[in-house]
Amino acid sequence: MSAKKKNVKLTRFGVSVPEDLIESFDAYIRERGYSNRSEAIRDLIRERLVARDWEREMMGKEVAGTITYVYDHHKRELVDEIIDIQHEYGEVVLVSQHVHLDHSNCLETVIVKGDPLSLKDLTYKLKALKGIKHCTLATTTTGKDIS
Ligand code: NI
Repeated sequence: MSAKKKNVKLTRFGVSVPEDLIESFDAYIRERGYSNRSEAIRDLIRERLVARDWEREMMGKEVAGTITYVYDHHKRELVDEIIDIQHEYGEVVLVSQHVHLDHSNCLETVIVKGDPLSLKDLTYKLKALKGIKHCTLATTTTGKDIS
């Protein structure tokens, strides 16, 4: 939806962002062909809202998925925290797999099944841990309702 077509009232707001983050973001918006940061940020906001709507729609249903994360295994307390969180979500965690990427980086995938909100919560808890470098959830169907 373009502001020009519908004469949408726009609100300006200021955001403080670390320099390296905005540099990466500027590179991203150039790659995607955005003419300015505002349009790129509007699209990101829309994407998040659509994702939230999907989560609400899926509430109470069952989906399968994979959580993948990379972390520094030298942070020993982090390993304990990861295991604690996996136990806390024992009802949705089916299996986890650990790979040593290099001397200090480990990659784990956790295959999960359950309601989408639990899968999201688990992902956010892992993502929030200090030392987790990247964490992502990919959801898919359990296959039950698809022939
Ligand atoms: Ni490892």
